[in-house]
Amino acid sequence: MTDPTRTTRPATDLLDAGERLSREELRTLQVERLRATLRHAYENVGFYREAFDKAGLRPDDCRSLEDLARFPFTTKADLRDHYPFGMFAVEPSRVRRVHASSGTTGRPTVVGYTDRDLGTWADVVARSIRAAGGRPGHKVHVAYGYGLFTGGLGAHYGAERLGCTVIPASGGMTARQVQLIQDFRPEIIMVTPSYMLTLLDEFERQGVDPRATSLRVGILGAEPWTEEMRREIESRFAIDAVDIYGLSEVIGPGVAQECVETKDGLHIWEDHFYPEVVDPFTGEVLPDGDEGELVFTSLTKEAMPVIRYRTRDLTRLLPGTARVFRRMEKVTGRSDDMIILRGVNLFPTQIEEIVLRTPGVAPHFQLRLAKEGRMDALTVRTEARTDASPEQRRAAAELIAAAVKDTIGVSVAVEVVEPETLERSVGKIKRIVDLRQDG
Ligand code: DLL
Repeated sequence: MTDPTRTTRPATDLLDAGERLSREELRTLQVERLRATLRHAYENVGFYREAFDKAGLRPDDCRSLEDLARFPFTTKADLRDHYPFGMFAVEPSRVRRVHASSGTTGRPTVVGYTDRDLGTWADVVARSIRAAGGRPGHKVHVAYGYGLFTGGLGAHYGAERLGCTVIPASGGMTARQVQLIQDFRPEIIMVTPSYMLTLLDEFERQGVDPRATSLRVGILGAEPWTEEMRREIESRFAIDAVDIYGLSEVIGPGVAQECVETKDGLHIWEDHFYPEVVDPFTGEVLPDGDEGELVFTSLTKEAMPVIRYRTRDLTRLLPGTARVFRRMEKVTGRSDDMIILRGVNLFPTQIEEIVLRTPGVAPHFQLRLAKEGRMDALTVRTEARTDASPEQRRAAAELIAAAVKDTIGVSVAVEVVEPETLERSVGKIKRIVDLRQDG
């Protein structure tokens, strides 16, 4: 990790007004915006009014950023309970767009934007693309899905706002994406890391050298990915790969972005989204540097302000380096994706680190959970590289099992399957296949 005392701020003409604030100015702005947001939420959303009343609080009881900790949390279940538009804080006619996240169970979560919210969103995504190395005039290939998912349209309007040329490819039709990248020669691609690997395979299948494309920067996010995955993608594509984070409930992509000059975690655009990290069990606010669950309060949103929204994403807050804003470390995973195997906690990203370091296997894997008697058993399925001999495959399986035992402390089975047999991602990849029956 980069020395946090090192400042590598870019020339000020590459920063917008928000990025040029001092920490002190930022704090003043945050308090002002926070107080206005609490008032807006309390006055216009029944859910927040009830929640604050129940806690015996009025918006004006918040006088400092620390006071926010006294206010109640908002969860995904709260949003679902108010499906579809119950969390909106403006007249229906002022809602210019909605998005929704599918959610694995039950109703989707619906989010809304006013004209001003769409402008804010385009601004923070433009800022993100610039932090990643994008400049006006660059061509941006957007391979995040377009539709109710915020990835495609969020990236799209941000890239336009920066003055780039957008190629709205969306997800899927992988062979055609490769053709478009060769013909249109974009400098930048915005895509999930797992779909970037699918594109990589397709370049190779078509006999095109992925290192020889016009691409210079990949802005990858919407799912967890590791430093090992960054190395794999950067070396096989000859690009800088940087992380973009966001969630629909808070705005979409562009809540936080890794700067290309430091690649040391993601700067949170704190002038619009106020972060806290809390203990996932007690809800207590943790000091910067401690790992816990990330919680966001929107500071400028009109249509759907969120107060202390629990993301379920696990990370820690760190001081700013390339920007004045604090950073969040790359997300380890969602608490929902944590597997508890015979009492040991395990995240798919930990398996990713191991698989990607192991010779003889491709950077694809899947985790299968099944019952063995009364115990849960986990099988790591990964793919042999095409040139791997049977001995190399066996050795890879043994290496992975040993590394999981050593670093995570639990025994797993490892299956090295034939090349190109695991399902490929076209958007967010699903790493865990749960074959356990209930009960
Ligand atoms: O995934 C928004 C987005 C689109 C972000 C494109 C970046 C790029 P949702 O579908 O609501 O929104 O899913 C949000 O995805 O709570 C995290 O669990 C996960 N996630 C998003 N970005 C990252 C990232 C979009 N960079 C959920 N690293 C979040 C790890 C991420 N997880």
